[in-house]
Amino acid sequence: MTAAPLGPCCIADYERLAADVLAPGPWGYFAGGAGDERTLRDNVAAFERRSLRPRVLVDVSEVSAATTVLGVPVSMPLLVAPVALQKMAHPDGEAGMARAAAAAGTVMIVSTIATSTPAEVAAAAPEAPRWFQVYSFRDRGVTRRLVDQAVESGFRALVVTVDAPRAGRRERDLRTGFAVPPEIDMPAVTAATGGRAAITPEEFFALVDPSLTWDGFAHIARESSLPVLVKGVQTAEDARLAVEHGAAGVIVSNHGGRQLDGVAAPIDVLPEVVEAIDGRVEVLVDGGIRRGTDVLVALALGARAVLAGRAPLWGLVAGGEEGARHVLELLHSEIELALALLGCPTPGAVTRAHVN
Ligand code: FNR
Ligand code: LAC
Repeated sequence: MTAAPLGPCCIADYERLAADVLAPGPWGYFAGGAGDERTLRDNVAAFERRSLRPRVLVDVSEVSAATTVLGVPVSMPLLVAPVALQKMAHPDGEAGMARAAAAAGTVMIVSTIATSTPAEVAAAAPEAPRWFQVYSFRDRGVTRRLVDQAVESGFRALVVTVDAPRAGRRERDLRTGFAVPPEIDMPAVTAATGGRAAITPEEFFALVDPSLTWDGFAHIARESSLPVLVKGVQTAEDARLAVEHGAAGVIVSNHGGRQLDGVAAPIDVLPEVVEAIDGRVEVLVDGGIRRGTDVLVALALGARAVLAGRAPLWGLVAGGEEGARHVLELLHSEIELALALLGCPTPGAVTRAHVN
């Protein structure tokens, strides 16, 4: 007698479902990386180069993945990363992802290149903690109005993405001739361009101000009533500059391998950033998170929590809000199981000694 088939039971299952569901253009955009995709692959492979060091005969009768990030209580040390164009993934879009994150008890970071406004996302899951990811546009007025709307809609932090002054060379998009379908609206892009036909990623990246410097970041942080994190730091030098210029948190990231191909995996960069920051602010990391064990490797190397981009996105593609919620539930249960088998009743019990 066998149990009924479970359906997708891990992130890889959802990725396969997403590949079947999406047309070549959207699949290439969501799954693709820059250049030869060396970094895209290494983001995941880097976790395979790490091994965990479990401790035994620890009382793990009570295990919880719950923690806080910037003081915000979350059910697990995993937040939903900002991912653009979510209505292109599924009609539920960012609103569905927000409800999924709320149900999972974690933070959703909403992209500037969302297909819903900050207010619409807030209305979808009013009680859920959410942060707003900022691309500083050349048209500062558009950025200011977006941030104001996010603040008025109860977003609790800003995340300024700094690794994308231009679009990375996304060759899958070149091969498919990808452009955002005209029926998919991007309110921020429409505000900056006055309405548009089908637009390519290079065209919407061209709206971003490539002249932004640390002084500009410091200005955003000073002017903001919310804590401001920086996303896309990949060196100890920039980690120090981030803290010196008012960052409330640092997210070690290479944009999921979509920007400069050939950079190191964030999990390999994390230790130098953690050492440079020396506990002054919380350090988060993203890139290649596909398993609960990946999250524990990140915690052991000094991260407070991780962001996951493609993993919940594949859930959204395959099953809308329900699919995204199931992915986050899978990751939550994987994290708790890994904590128990590592001999750590809580995320705070994970130390550098738990990873080789
Ligand atoms: C992203 N990412 C991203 N980052 C950001 O700051 N603003 C954005 O609008 C987007 N958009 C986006 C779209 C797609 C399709 C992907 C895959 C990624 C990067 C994202 O926040 C995160 O850094 C990576 O996705 C993390 O890597 P994983 O989890 O996808 O391996
Ligand atoms: C991307 C942008 C939107 O990676 O961040 O496509």
